[in-house]
Amino acid sequence: MLTMTEAATANPSDPEPKPPLIDPVCGSGSPAIATLERLTVRYPRWKRIYGKIEDCRVLSKNAAEPRCLLIVGRSGVGKTSLIQKYLAEHPPRETATGRVVPVLFAQIPAPATIKAMASHLLEALGDPMPQRGTLDGMTQRSVRLIAACQVELIILDEFQHFIDREKNFKVLQTVSDWLKNLINSTRVPIVLVGMPESVKVLTENDQLARRFMAKERLSPFQWRGDGKDEFIRFLEEVSEKLPLAEKPMIYSVDVAQRMFWATEGRTALVMKIVRSATREALVNNWKTITIRELAKAYTEALVGDDDELTNPFLGPIPPIDAYGRPVRLSQDEPKEQTPKKRFKAAGSASKSDFSSMMKGQAA
Ligand SMILES: Nc1ncnc2c1ncn2[C@@H]1O[C@H](COP(=O)(O)OP(=O)(O)O)[C@@H](O)[C@H]1O
Ligand SMILES: [Mg+2]
Repeated sequence: MLTMTEAATANPSDPEPKPPLIDPVCGSGSPAIATLERLTVRYPRWKRIYGKIEDCRVLSKNAAEPRCLLIVGRSGVGKTSLIQKYLAEHPPRETATGRVVPVLFAQIPAPATIKAMASHLLEALGDPMPQRGTLDGMTQRSVRLIAACQVELIILDEFQHFIDREKNFKVLQTVSDWLKNLINSTRVPIVLVGMPESVKVLTENDQLARRFMAKERLSPFQWRGDGKDEFIRFLEEVSEKLPLAEKPMIYSVDVAQRMFWATEGRTALVMKIVRSATREALVNNWKTITIRELAKAYTEALVGDDDELTNPFLGPIPPIDAYGRPVRLSQDEPKEQTPKKRFKAAGSASKSDFSSMMKGQAA
């Protein structure tokens, strides 16, 4: 196994012609790129929420009332991709007696209206004319098709669209009453997925809230207590699953701290950096990725400028405070400062740390 710094120096200067990796063509259709895009790490908190969704589906079958669930989390924590995995593992199937849709999924449109909700459901159920009919007619058709397609669970993403951002963040009461009635008439459990502010919909609709007593939060990774180990283990699993000939050391404590500083533990941002760096390695037929590719990916895929002063993959390890928050360059600090000066205030890296890192980068 190469360290990040050894690998950084190995890549561009290696004179040996390298054998093709998984696939010599690294276009968007190549198997390596497909593996990269599909890569999902089932870490313990992820599996727990996945299990809660499965419980709603399975345990509602013999329950007096359907077991519904609300899942909330900030943008980019991985809610939609978790749902997509669940859907992929419970796909629709055609049978002799018609289409069976064990899990019905729809994205709630913004702002949510009954007509749009019903037509999204009808479309997912295979209705040939999902937009046709009156509101009542469409709702009745949805209820009938949900039974005919033997739907066991409904998952609705973007639940925050039940709040109208354009109109003073008002909760859309008619559509939340419609949803409550849909649960009553189909008796199929619903999993709602949305941003943390979605809970407001339930606090303003007691009857709907009664159905959604169970709540789960998918939080970003943390950089304190056990969270640090969890984040490092996540990076290690990502590293193992990457379509690269050699497992990159993105899970060493120092790279993990840089990665946390760059992303605040949000899976979407971590994966954006890692995917971009990996694509670069695949295109160039390199065995692995190094801190050099991570630095480039941070600039190109995340921040979109070339200000090296704020690149956490360059220079000393950027500091994270006692609450697990990245310490950022303060607004009033002059931009021309070197990275060495920038992190001095937070007491992070010594002069020698800084010099050796810069040497590593220059190699
Ligand atoms: N467990 C995971 N393993 C690997 N990548 C993940 C994981 N969870 C999320 N991602 C990646 O993060 C990105 C954003 O996730 P997404 O599910 O859209 O977040 P959200 O719906 O919470 O905004 C996607 O590119 C996805 O591939
Ligand atoms: Mg989402």
